[in-house]
Amino acid sequence: MAEPGALGPRHIAIIMDGNGRWAKNRRLPRTLGHVKGAKVVRPLVKSCVERGVTHLTLFAFSTENWRRPPEEVSTLMGLFGQYLEKEVSDMQKQGVRFRLIGDRSAFAQGLQDLIAHAELSTAHNQGIHLTVAANYGGQWDILNATREWQRANPLKGLEMLDAPGLAPHLSMAGAPDPDLLIRTGGESRISNFLLWQCAYTELYFTDALWPDFNAAMLDEALAWYQKRVRRFGRTDEQVLGDPSARAKLPMA
Ligand code: FPP
Repeated sequence: MAEPGALGPRHIAIIMDGNGRWAKNRRLPRTLGHVKGAKVVRPLVKSCVERGVTHLTLFAFSTENWRRPPEEVSTLMGLFGQYLEKEVSDMQKQGVRFRLIGDRSAFAQGLQDLIAHAELSTAHNQGIHLTVAANYGGQWDILNATREWQRANPLKGLEMLDAPGLAPHLSMAGAPDPDLLIRTGGESRISNFLLWQCAYTELYFTDALWPDFNAAMLDEALAWYQKRVRRFGRTDEQVLGDPSARAKLPMA
């Protein structure tokens, strides 16, 4: 049996919020907040690998983010492209497996090509799964998966659809559900991110702004996570009394 608190999260999902405020606090244009925010990603991936995290999923651009000023949208797209151009060789070295979830058809062809290249060239790596959600929304994901299920099962009525049947059609198919969701920037909501997959996820909210997020803050979130008792619908007594039902023990 695992030692109390020995089990860390396998899958961490992050809503990287607060770039705009970070820039505003310094009287800089919002876009520079995103530039600084993008720089946080590489060391974060490394920190997650060092802490045994197998899946890291980052919310980079929501379906609602198209409503932002056009120059901000194009900065975000540009940063994403630059990140892919610069990081693929490092991902290879670190064994990172990259994939993108979200409707990529809305992106410029050049960006779509960079995404496809990053996915293809890292597909056989054996390290952490790094997923970036871009033009992604949890509601879109569920609707899309339902439609796909219907196309794959034309002779079945929707009353035959169940959760295990839907799972392979969701964009995170094959990945464990997030154990821990971190949101920076002081808001306490999940903003249409991984709605299906976060049904039993522990939610951690911090006031830190994303460009300031660092390994020490990650460790604070992990220490908080270690104190959760994950019941998955069971009672405390069931979880604490039955080692096999025990997903996590609280630290003393
Ligand atoms: C939210 O901050 C952040 C975003 C909408 C974009 C996140 C993108 C990055 C960190 C850069 C690109 C990502 C990768 C993976 C290279 P906000 O603008 O809503 O901040 P605010 O709430 O302070 O205004």
